[in-house]
Amino acid sequence: MYKDNRDFLKDSIRKKIDFSKTAQSRGLAQPPWQKPCPPGAEKIALPARDKWQGIPGLKLEEAIAGRKSRRNFAEQALRLEELAFLLWATQGLREAGAARHNFRTVPSAGCRHASETYVAALRVEGLEKAIYRYLPLDHALVEFVRHPDLEEQLIRGTFGQAFCGKAAATFIWTAIPERMEWRYGGASYKVIALDAGHICQNLYLACENIGAGACAVAAYDQEEMDKVLGVDGRDEFVIYLAPVGKVSF
Ligand SMILES: Cc1cc2nc3c(=O)[nH]c(=O)nc-3n(C[C@H](O)[C@H](O)[C@H](O)COP(=O)(O)O)c2cc1C
Repeated sequence: MYKDNRDFLKDSIRKKIDFSKTAQSRGLAQPPWQKPCPPGAEKIALPARDKWQGIPGLKLEEAIAGRKSRRNFAEQALRLEELAFLLWATQGLREAGAARHNFRTVPSAGCRHASETYVAALRVEGLEKAIYRYLPLDHALVEFVRHPDLEEQLIRGTFGQAFCGKAAATFIWTAIPERMEWRYGGASYKVIALDAGHICQNLYLACENIGAGACAVAAYDQEEMDKVLGVDGRDEFVIYLAPVGKVSF
């Protein structure tokens, strides 16, 4: 009964799509590269890459060799600079400044970058406990939502995976499918999933560089997690998570 779903992994659909009918071909404006902020929302500037002082330069080979899924985290908080590094590594613009491009540190089909990054900051120096959204074009955070029982909500939303509520920060990625559909129509969904893999792998490698660890989490309660973020579950919904914390030895 599941075999029909295998087509999701194939690209046969591309031959069936009339690309002259996509939103892009019809001349419709492309959806914004980054979800707009509510009017008046305060942007929390993150330390820029050329100002980082305590980000080591682990050899890539060592980061790759050392990478593993880590689920035991130390009590230690992440420094804001370290969070800035992880956000840059996973979604940062490839060239700094007010560039009018959308090239990031991770690849994306058609450079559409159809995901948004939320961080449930539980122990990050300089940040109140809350969920923030990363703004790649500004290299800044905007506070999104506060829940007094954020830890419990993260655990409940991941079917009891306790380390999701014990991390210093849990990354939560959503998809905004329209960004990809604008160009690729029905051929969008597989590539959105592929893009998420690149993002999470960069997070794993970047964590190795700062003595932290991450664990990819794809087993979560869709409706519950969408509710935690307050996204509508249709035009934007959670697709992947990764708790991050300093490694406890
Ligand atoms: C797509 C994907 C989904 C995953 N989902 C979960 C999860 O929900 N919970 C969990 O504990 N680990 C999850 N993992 C981590 C895997 O269990 C882990 O990668 C695997 O055991 C191999 O270990 P390693 O990453 O240390 O090499 C996931 C990994 C991937 C790539």
